[in-house]
Amino acid sequence: MSLPFNVAAHLDARLRAAADRLGLAGRGFDPEVRVADPAHGDYQANGALAFAKREKQNPRALAQQIVDQAAELSADFDLTLAGPGFINFRAKPASLLTWLSTHDSEEQLRAGASASHAGQTWVVDYSSPNTAKQMHVGHLRSAVIGEAICRLLAFTGAKVIRDNHLGDWGTQFGKLIYGYKRWVDDEALMTDPIEELERLYKLGHAATPDGSPELEEAKRELVKLQTGDAQNVALWKKFSDVSLAAFQQIYDRLGIVFDHNLGESFYNDKVERIYRELGETKLAETSEGALVVFHPEHPRFAKQPFLIRKADGASNYASTDLATALYRTEHFTADGIVVVTDFRQGDHFEQLFLTVKKWFAAKSYRLPELHHVTFGAVTGEDGKALKTRDGGVIKLKALLDEAEDRAFAIVTEKNPDLSEDERREIARAVGIGAVQYADLAQNRSSNYVFSWDKMLALEGNTAPYLLYAVARVRSIFRKAELDPAQPPVAGATAPETAQELALARKLVQFADAVKLATDQLRPHFLCLYLFELAGAYSAFYAADKVIVDDPAVRARRLLLCHRTLITLETGLHLLGLRTLERM
Ligand code: ARG
Repeated sequence: MSLPFNVAAHLDARLRAAADRLGLAGRGFDPEVRVADPAHGDYQANGALAFAKREKQNPRALAQQIVDQAAELSADFDLTLAGPGFINFRAKPASLLTWLSTHDSEEQLRAGASASHAGQTWVVDYSSPNTAKQMHVGHLRSAVIGEAICRLLAFTGAKVIRDNHLGDWGTQFGKLIYGYKRWVDDEALMTDPIEELERLYKLGHAATPDGSPELEEAKRELVKLQTGDAQNVALWKKFSDVSLAAFQQIYDRLGIVFDHNLGESFYNDKVERIYRELGETKLAETSEGALVVFHPEHPRFAKQPFLIRKADGASNYASTDLATALYRTEHFTADGIVVVTDFRQGDHFEQLFLTVKKWFAAKSYRLPELHHVTFGAVTGEDGKALKTRDGGVIKLKALLDEAEDRAFAIVTEKNPDLSEDERREIARAVGIGAVQYADLAQNRSSNYVFSWDKMLALEGNTAPYLLYAVARVRSIFRKAELDPAQPPVAGATAPETAQELALARKLVQFADAVKLATDQLRPHFLCLYLFELAGAYSAFYAADKVIVDDPAVRARRLLLCHRTLITLETGLHLLGLRTLERM
C-alpha cells in the first residue's frame, strides 16, 4: 500500500467502501474525515457518531465494525478508536517516507492536486477597475485575492480564464469627452494618463451644471459615442487603451496576466437578448417604464427589485452582468464563474445569481457554479478607510513603491554587504510580497487593517518570515555545496525523531490545505498552513542536526529539508508571491 497525494480523500474513499460492505451505502453514511489535533492522530473520522445516532445504533460498535472492514488501512496507519466512536489515524513513518519520496517537486505536487478540477473551465473576474479612473485599494485586494484563486484553481486541474471586467462604459464619458476636447494636455496624458483623464473629467463635470447648455453639449457627446461617431469612439478607445496600459504596470508588479479584458462595453450589443429572454420567461416585468426582476421567495428581494433596464431604455450594471454570465457560459463553456469584489456589491450579485439560476433553468441552459467572492474594507491603523492624508484615493503605484522602499531599507540594514542590485531585487520580492501576503493571510471576509510594520515584520505570519524560511532552507544546501534541484536523498530512512515526524506529517497535509483553500475560495487557509509548516521546520532544524556523518540520517534529513523547500515555494507561488534564493 502507499499513500496518494490527498490522504484525507483516500481515507474517505476507503471508509465509504467499508461502509458499503456493511450495507450502509444507501443510508447516507459520511465518514467525515478531518485533519486531527496532532495529539490524537493525523486524521480522524467522526462519521460513525452522527450515523449511529440517526440509526439508533451503538456508535463505538459501529466504528469498530467499519475499522474491521477497512483492515487494509492498517498497512499505512495505526488506527485507534476514541471516545464514543471517533476513529483516529496516525500514518506510519514508512508510509510518510513513501509519500515524501513520490512528491519530490512542484510538478509532482501539482500532478497530485490536479484531480479535483480536472476537465473543468473556470472564469475568474477580478481587479476589474473602471477606466479613466485611478485604481483604488479595493481593486488591489480584488487583484491579489483573485490571482491567488486563479492559481489555486489551475493547480487543482482547472483551465482558468482570467477576465478583467473593466468598467469602461457609462454616462461619465459624455463629460469626459467634453472636457477632453477643450482642455487636454497631451504631455500630461503621456506621463500620467489616468491623472490627466481624472482632471479632464472634473473640468468637464464642473463646466456642465444641471440645466446648462453645456450639459446638453456633453449629452450630445455621449449620444455621438453611443451611436458610433468615429471621433468620439476613437477618443473612448484611447481612454481605455491608456488606462489599461497604466493598470498593466500594476499587474506586472503583481505577476498578473489577464487572458481577456472584456469590459462592460463588450456587452453593449448583447443586452437585447437578455431583455427578450427574461421577458419571455416572465421573470422580468415592467415597472414605471423600467424592466425589473423580483424574487418573491426572498425576504428582501421580494420587494426590492433588480433593475435590469432603466426607464429611458438604457442598459446598466445589471444588464451587462446578465449578458456577461450568459457569455461566459456559452462562449467559454464555464463550469464555474468567480467574481471578486468588495462586500458592498453583495446584493447585486445575490440578485444576479438568483436571476441567472431561474432564467437558465427556464431556458434549459447548463448552469455553471456561481461564486461571488467578497472581501472587507481596508482601513488604516486608526480604523478609518484607507485614504491619503488629504482624503484622496491612494495611488497603487505609490503604495507599491513605498512597500519596496521600506523593504529595501530593511534589507540594507540586515545585509549591507549585498550589492545594490541584489538588495533591490530582494526588496521587490519582499515588499510586493508583503502587500500581497497581508491581504491574503487573513480571512477575506473581515476588514483588514493596513499596517506597514506588521506586514514587513520578520516574525509572525508574514511574507518576510516565509520568504526568509525559504532562504534559510536553501542556505543549508548552499553551505553543504549540494544542489537543491537534485538533493542527495538516496537511502533516506523513515522519519524517526519527534520533530522529524511532526514535520513529515505537516508536509503530507499540504494537500488538505490546498483543498480547503480552493473549495472555499479562501487563500488564508493556505497561508496558515505555510506558517505552521515553517514553524514545524524551525522546530526540526533546532532539534536535529542535518549534516551528520551517518549517511542514512543525513539523507532523510536532507529529504525533509528539500520537501519543506518545495512545499513552501509551491505554496507561496500559489499565492502569487515570488520566492528568493537568499535574503
Ligand atoms: N468595475 C466594478 C468596480 O469597480 C467591478 C466589476 C466586477 N465585475 C462584474 N462582473 N461586475 O467596482
